[in-house]
Amino acid sequence: MSSLEYLTSSPSASLAAKLEDRTARIGVIGLGYVGLPLVLLFSEQKFRVTGFDIDSKKVSILSNGGSYIVRIPETEIQAAQRSGFSATSDYSQISSMDAIIICVPTPLNDHHEPDLSFIAATAESIAPHLRPGQLVILESTTYPGTTEELLIPILEKNPLGLKAARGTNSDPTVTFYVAFSPEREDPGNDTVARCDIPKVVGGLNPDATELGRKLYGTIFNRTVPVSTPAAAEMTKLLENIYRCVNIALVNELKLLSLRMGIDIWEVIGAASTKPFGFQAFYPGPGLGGHCIPIDPFYLSWKAKEYDFHTRFIELAGEINLNMPYHVVTSTAAALNRERKSLNGAKVLILGVAYKKDIDDLRESPALTIIELLQKEGAQVSYNDPFFEYVGRGRKYNLEMKNTPLDDLQQYECVVIVTDHSSYDYEAIVEQSNLVIDTRNATKGIQSSKIVHC
Ligand SMILES: NC(=O)c1ccc[n+]([C@@H]2O[C@H](COP(=O)([O-])OP(=O)(O)OC[C@H]3O[C@@H](n4cnc5c(N)ncnc54)[C@H](O)[C@@H]3O)[C@@H](O)[C@H]2O)c1
Repeated sequence: MSSLEYLTSSPSASLAAKLEDRTARIGVIGLGYVGLPLVLLFSEQKFRVTGFDIDSKKVSILSNGGSYIVRIPETEIQAAQRSGFSATSDYSQISSMDAIIICVPTPLNDHHEPDLSFIAATAESIAPHLRPGQLVILESTTYPGTTEELLIPILEKNPLGLKAARGTNSDPTVTFYVAFSPEREDPGNDTVARCDIPKVVGGLNPDATELGRKLYGTIFNRTVPVSTPAAAEMTKLLENIYRCVNIALVNELKLLSLRMGIDIWEVIGAASTKPFGFQAFYPGPGLGGHCIPIDPFYLSWKAKEYDFHTRFIELAGEINLNMPYHVVTSTAAALNRERKSLNGAKVLILGVAYKKDIDDLRESPALTIIELLQKEGAQVSYNDPFFEYVGRGRKYNLEMKNTPLDDLQQYECVVIVTDHSSYDYEAIVEQSNLVIDTRNATKGIQSSKIVHC
């Protein structure tokens, strides 16, 4: 594009062209489980990507070509560096970016209410460096309205007086573009290639949606436009609430099936053979991860503003939150049948990650189960190939070290909380005195030592 063409074209056309020829500079803010893989996808497409994070340890590891996420090898970071990737905590570099994608945390506070402080702080850091024609996209999961009610008002307090482009009449010299596009990653799931997961984009105006689609179209095979940022925000919540409610349903049916002497896993397997109208969800020791235990409460909180009570979400939350307590009660009952008491028993927890084969502890039910067992006087140890140490988190302070998987006879019982693929379940059952299985990991193994719960 000649300089004359550049001057006469709108910033929207200019950014579209830069995306097309890969000269657009892309900034990803928040280099965690969502942001870092995104950096790599854009780098693979030969974009020069800058990653922003306030965690100086992460910035330093990445700058040295290292990785802190188990499934991302260092070689991938180094390949990205060769495409121009760099990591920084310096927000002044925002002004050099053409597209900025925000992937910061959205947890709940101690009162189970949305904590949007990370999004607000990020917006405050971006605002002083905004320039016309930039595209800002929020990916963090949040309630409908966050982009328009929280993000944009902060960004619009920028020193140049730039406004977010709205409708069709936005002045191209004094506006920036804003969209929301939810992250849909499923850590540990290798059945769908990342590029095959369609990307939903909802812009504040049609130009923003189109630019968002162009940006993500470089790394995803399909983009799905929706009419507003709020529709995109709600889409993500619908997906996660659907999972949360269905998991609660099978958890409740599992509790009933246990009482009735029916194997719920066999039932789910049989129901799954129906070629239409049924999707399998599986029971477990409780919800974990950054999304399913948290996101639904973002919507129930927002719903109150509209005098609306989200009963499905509350009920599902109640059932799912009770599952770790059920595991502890079942463990005590199983020991009782052996004429042993939980108080003083040596208990080994197998797997502390919130789901199998991943290195993520967030909201893991294992942490609650360990705390509850300790409260009952059990001497608890854990084994997890992904965690050498479990220290202090937002809601726990365990300070425990990984125990090797040997001498299982020393434990009164072993509780399978996370069914990592690397475990040899036959050997575990053979060597243990008693096995509490919360995941059907011992499927097919015949032994009176196994208690399903
Ligand atoms: N992990 C998942 O599988 C997943 C899936 C879908 C959606 N999400 C959503 O994506 C968002 C991010 O999740 P995550 O799992 O990547 O979180 P994470 O905690 O792994 O990473 C977030 C990163 O943001 C950084 N950060 C915080 N405040 C910052 C600031 N002001 N400026 C720059 N960096 C900042 C943190 O240091 C951290 O490195 C959340 O809203 C989450 O709900 C996560």
